[in-house]
Amino acid sequence: MQHKSREGFNSRLGALLAIAGSAIGLGNLWKFPYMVGDNGGSIFILFYLIFVVLICLPVMLSELVFGRNTQRNIFGAFRKLAPNTSWRFVGVISIVAAFVILSFYSVVAGWTLEYIFQSVRNAFAGQTAEQIGQFFADFSSSTFRPLLWHIIFMALTACIVLFGVRRGIERCSKLLMPLLFLLIVMLAVRTATLPGAAEGIQFLFRPDWSKFSTQTLVGALGQAFFSLSLGMGVMATYASYIPKKEPLVKTAVQSSIADTTFALIAAVAIVPAVFAFGLAPTQGPGLAFVALPTVFQQMPGGTIFAVIFFVIFLLAALTSSISILEVQVAYWVEEFHVGRRKATLLTTLVTAAVGVFCSLSFGVLSDFKILGKTFFELMDFLATNVLLPVGSLLFVMFVGWRMSKATMHRELSMGAGRKMRAVSLVIFFVVRYVAPIAIVLVLLSGFFKL
Ligand code: PHE
Repeated sequence: MQHKSREGFNSRLGALLAIAGSAIGLGNLWKFPYMVGDNGGSIFILFYLIFVVLICLPVMLSELVFGRNTQRNIFGAFRKLAPNTSWRFVGVISIVAAFVILSFYSVVAGWTLEYIFQSVRNAFAGQTAEQIGQFFADFSSSTFRPLLWHIIFMALTACIVLFGVRRGIERCSKLLMPLLFLLIVMLAVRTATLPGAAEGIQFLFRPDWSKFSTQTLVGALGQAFFSLSLGMGVMATYASYIPKKEPLVKTAVQSSIADTTFALIAAVAIVPAVFAFGLAPTQGPGLAFVALPTVFQQMPGGTIFAVIFFVIFLLAALTSSISILEVQVAYWVEEFHVGRRKATLLTTLVTAAVGVFCSLSFGVLSDFKILGKTFFELMDFLATNVLLPVGSLLFVMFVGWRMSKATMHRELSMGAGRKMRAVSLVIFFVVRYVAPIAIVLVLLSGFFKL
């Protein structure tokens, strides 16, 4: 059934900012900077850039073409392009991945609300790194506050999605994305000019071949996929709202540039600051929630920059979480004819409920382990190491071997002002031969350290 009344993005800028908003998130803010640090500085950046251009951009374009061509949610899109086949279950993998990711993403995002609150109160003033570390340990393992913030964050996400594609997602992205860039540039300028920051900049950009390994390669590729929100139906779902007259190649290139630039600015904002105050770069949540508050409370004007940093964190997470929720909502609305409001409430409730277990797994449920992992770690592993690579692999194989070259060519040429034959040939080559091999390597590396 064609959905005549289907809502779409109002402008190309709106679509671009929504896509960039999905891409820019927690992955750029705390994961990218330290992956760079841990994997040989500029060597990691170099491979990251090569993968973004050679593999991720073609995969993103196939998702955009797939979504815009069908104008459906991810499940419906497979049903339309390959009726009565099992391919539609690839859509189910994406929807489950979206659900699993959001359940733990919203827990970490919720923590930022506590940190905004504490920064505004100037609660970290005069505290040592140990004390701040203790605060983080106590807070994340407590029962009620993290749950409260997690639920508030999910409610914020739901409120935006509830308003729909144009009035909710597009409007919010147009408002928040420029603000986000402005804030991260302000922060980067402040921290990169701290005395002692030069060492951190060197650490970031000096190639260190001794740290190079196959992990650098799979790490860079996995991070590029995650950062560009690929393999989860997000890009396809957003593209299904892009009007036919808009050029997809331009949108894909610009949003990839925005995402990569943001990751680099975030690295410049964060790593030198950590160095300037003689702290060690540690990976994971500890970086954002322990090292940075320590840095901020030692630097002049730190309170305001701490608030700015956690607001950046929150906004980046929010513009990503709405895209993840939309994948699920679009599915229920279109496949089961549930109203948007009901679909949003239901998916939010179920995701938030699973998130409760993720949150509690830092505290009361920390001893409850499946396969040696806490519930949070299990969800993270399931999504990042299993569902995303498997979903992406099947997706690129579908586009490479089942979608017609004519469809790809037509979609890419629309609104572009010229024929895109060469681009579509390159995409076919990548999604047929290069991307599947690369994704299998990432998949294997998640199970056996390659
Ligand atoms: N790209 C987001 C980030 O960097 C995360 C994300 C992954 C969002 C997959 C949507 C889909 O944090």
